[in-house]
This record gives sequence, structure tokens and C-alpha cells, in this order.
Amino acid sequence: MTSAPAKFILFGEHAVVYGQPAIAAPLSNLRVTATIRKLKDQQQMRLITTGENESLPIDIHLEDVNSAFATTARLVLDYFDALPPQVEISIDSQIPVASGLGSGAAVTTALARAIAEAINQSLPDEKLNQIVFEVEKIYHGIPSGIDNTVIVYEKPVYYVRNHPLELLSIPKPIMFVVGDTGISASTKIAVSDVGRLHKAEPNRIQPILASIGGLVNRARIAIESGHIEPLGHLMLQNHALLRTLTVSSPEIENLIEAAIAGGALGAKLSGGGRGGNMIALVQADTAENVRQALLNAGAKRAFITTLGE
Ligand code: MEV
Repeated sequence: MTSAPAKFILFGEHAVVYGQPAIAAPLSNLRVTATIRKLKDQQQMRLITTGENESLPIDIHLEDVNSAFATTARLVLDYFDALPPQVEISIDSQIPVASGLGSGAAVTTALARAIAEAINQSLPDEKLNQIVFEVEKIYHGIPSGIDNTVIVYEKPVYYVRNHPLELLSIPKPIMFVVGDTGISASTKIAVSDVGRLHKAEPNRIQPILASIGGLVNRARIAIESGHIEPLGHLMLQNHALLRTLTVSSPEIENLIEAAIAGGALGAKLSGGGRGGNMIALVQADTAENVRQALLNAGAKRAFITTLGE
């Protein structure tokens, strides 16, 4: 069996697509697993995903470049110069789709690891990261690469596209509540809408993206020095800038207000936005209160996660 975690973005989503830094961390309790079952000889590799009753063949010769599963299989098998194994791979995901938690990258990561395992190989993380990035293009259009990086390495990262990986050190635990609006929203559409805005009004949008980058750098200093006090305010500022990029939504605003009223130090959307998940910075004595406040305000689910434990 292989697996991969969900992720959440603490700071810098969207601006990261334009070369600004961003901070993200894995959610190791929320995972995709892939289980391999050997098939009888002459049978084609098959895949069965969460909620489906029947497995489907993975045709690595499929011309359809939009097929994420076929592309994943082809890239892994080409790397090892191997033939498709005669296995059925079952993908079981706890990660809600289209909700900003990296479900696509996590499924690809677990699947690529499973295909490698089925041919008795192991993919080096660096290669796996490249493969998942390629497949992310199918899901996201122009991904920054942050989702695949944080999910493949399963470590908190400070990420700048096309720069070497920088792991984030977290000397003092930081608690968040993650709240799901229950609205699924396409990251691809949100990213392309921001792209259109950027193209139409570069003089207005470029400084917003640069300001987000500045907040990310201040957040990094706060996190790495163990001084979490400024983080709440930085999150609210980051969220206000994301709102001007048109990627918030009434449901996200509602949950952010509820989190603050419930005692959170700060809150913002997390991921592509327009729905999906938001995060709130909390302390041990306010965490449960904030979680309840989010549920009372209509969050589909809300859970507490601690970084740096
Ligand atoms: C999605 O998790 C984060 C975005 O910044 C897109 C990307 O970086 O590829 C919205």
C-alpha cells in the first residue's frame, strides 16, 4: 500500500503562480491510499477510485492527454522503462475534491508510488515531484508547483516556483482550525480568472501580488522564530488581498467572520478559493470554540491541526 497526505496553504496562494513565495504544510491525518492487487496473467492494469463499484483499465497509450491517471502511469513506466504491471490499484481518498486541500496532487502521488511499487521499484522524491507536477497541469492549467512539492515531501515548505526546495522550521507548535465551506470550486478557473485580471490590469494587480509576497516573508520570520503573535494579522491582510483578486466567496467570508467572533487570532481562505476550505489561527484554549463556531456557521466539516509537533 502507498499513500499521500492532503495539504493546506498558510500564506501566498495565487501570488505563488507569479513567482511570489508561499508557505504550505501537509495534513498528514487526511490521506489518499492506494492498494495494489495482482491480477491474473494477460489482464490489463486497472484502477478503481473511491465510491466507484467497478475498476477501469488504465490505457497508457491513451492519446487523451487530459487523462490524469493514464498520464501518471505513462510517466512512471517510461521512467523505469517498464511494461504496465498486471495489477488493479484501488484509490481510497479521505480528501474532499475541489476544496483547496490538494486532492488531485495527493491522488497522483499515491498512484505513482503504487505503480512503482507494483513493478518493484521506488520513485525518488525528486522524480516523483516532477511527475506529479506534469499531471497537475491537467488539473490546474498553470500550477505553481507548490501542491505537488508539499505533498510529495510531506513537510512544511517555503516555496518559490523554479527555486530549490526550502523546508520550513517550526520551533513552536502552531494550531489551526480548517473549515470547509462545502462548496466545491475549480482551482483551474480561479487561477485563470486571476490570470485574466493580471493581464487586463497589470498596474493594479502586480503590486497586490508583491504585497502578498511581502506578507509571506514576514510570516516566515514569525513562524521560524517561534513568535506567532503577528501571524493572525498577517493572515487577515493576506485574505483581504485575495479578496481583491476576486477569489473569496460569501461562504468563505461567513466562516472567517465566525472564526474571528469565536476567538481566532486570524483567518483566511486556503488554496484556490471561491469555496473550498478556510483556515483560522487558534490557541489551545480557543481551538474547540472556533471549531464549534465554524460548524454552527454552516461549515460542512471543521478540524484542528497542529504544525510543528
Ligand atoms: C492551489 O492549491 C494554490 C494556487 O496558488 C494554485 C497554484 O499554486 O498552483 C491557487
